Amino acid sequence: ESGKLWGGRFVGAVDPIMEKFNASIAYDQHLWEMDVQGSKAYSRGLEKAGLLTKAEMDQILQGLDKVAEEWAQGTFKLNPNDEDIHTANERRLKELIGETAGKLHTGRSRNDQVVTDLRLWMRQNCSMLSALLWELIRTMVDRAEAEWDVLFPGYTHLQRAQPIRWSHWILSHAVALTRDSERLLEVQKRINVLPLGSGAIAGNPLGVDRELLRAELNFGSITLNSMDATSERDFVAEFLFWASLCMTHLSRMAEDLILYGTKEFNFVQLSDAYSTGSSLMPQKKNPDSLELIRSKAGRVFGRCAGLLMTLKGLPSTYNKDLQEDKEAVFEVSDTMSAVLQVATGVISTLQIHRENMAQALSPDMLATDLAYYLVRKGMPFRQAHEASGKAVFMAETKGVALNQLSLQELQTISPLFSGDVSHVWDYGHSVEQYTALGGTARSSVDWQIGQVRALLRAQ
Ligand code: ARG
Repeated sequence: ESGKLWGGRFVGAVDPIMEKFNASIAYDQHLWEMDVQGSKAYSRGLEKAGLLTKAEMDQILQGLDKVAEEWAQGTFKLNPNDEDIHTANERRLKELIGETAGKLHTGRSRNDQVVTDLRLWMRQNCSMLSALLWELIRTMVDRAEAEWDVLFPGYTHLQRAQPIRWSHWILSHAVALTRDSERLLEVQKRINVLPLGSGAIAGNPLGVDRELLRAELNFGSITLNSMDATSERDFVAEFLFWASLCMTHLSRMAEDLILYGTKEFNFVQLSDAYSTGSSLMPQKKNPDSLELIRSKAGRVFGRCAGLLMTLKGLPSTYNKDLQEDKEAVFEVSDTMSAVLQVATGVISTLQIHRENMAQALSPDMLATDLAYYLVRKGMPFRQAHEASGKAVFMAETKGVALNQLSLQELQTISPLFSGDVSHVWDYGHSVEQYTALGGTARSSVDWQIGQVRALLRAQ
């Protein structure tokens, strides 16, 4: 006897290297709780189908509770023979309750079992990640609300573009994260589908009521096709893509903050709690938290690409390649959990240097507003753009700031310039023009905050 659940047709032993290569217990033991849950539901299904007596079912249920208790208390002892969490739990159940344990797997396969366990695990984990994501969004919105009056340069191509509110920058990143939250909800919906009762490939021949299994495990719906159900990992791919896109957003925000934290920009200062020093250069305070957020993005993308490559050439239906899905899910979940918490910490403790932000604004950033000034006097925008460009050139040639040009000098460019042009040079006045919804005026920033807060309340 090989001591394996599938040992009947084997005479030869498995090579020890192969044994280790094949085993997934080192990581899929994370699923112990879900595996017990799934088995309990399945034994209820077997009882209803007349395949277990009530007494046998109770015996199995109690045994499974004991198995769970051992895992919870850390007393579950793995055998060298335990290949994965499913075989380990069943082996232990047999030790605890005897031969009745052998009825639990009736009509079930590890193929429908493992994917049920994984869906249960991901369902729980996604709720946790969603809560962490909203915690970050809330932190960002709180800051945006508190610091609505801070102005600083907005950049395109990393060149000074237009004055914006600091809150507008924060919200630009928070809004991206709200889409990640929405996307996660979609993924959760597709995770929440029950595959149990699909067997290895062909389905269940013993009359197990899958609707009962669904209700027992509180899934939203059941899978439609047993071949698809046991081998598709769309929900894993979608989760990994969700994480990849969310990491893209977090990485971009991290990159901004790394730049803004350099002495060259000096807009923000990271709290000591999220920085580290240099072993050689005493003056250094490095934004390691942000750099790690940026770098973890690469790791998450790698997992996403890796899974897609694993899936793309698989013949129907279950193949052992699919065992590789779990490490990706566990690693990416852990990474996302850590990154979201660190990002929340960074944002909530970040110091901003308002004066440096204000000083970094320069009159050339108002050249667009100078064109709008002329537009408001009736000039077509294309001509106004040209006229403002001429003013920029004139200031550069004279070696003065754009707002140092005299009215007379401006009037050589266009007679539409008059005394009220002085209003253009006020940064506060500038941002307040951008009142259309989505812009950087206070009213619009408040509107954005209201919109995101409404989403937050709906959670
Ligand atoms: N440990 C396997 C996995 O993670 C369980 C399913 C194995 N099924 C099989 N027929 N070999 O995918």
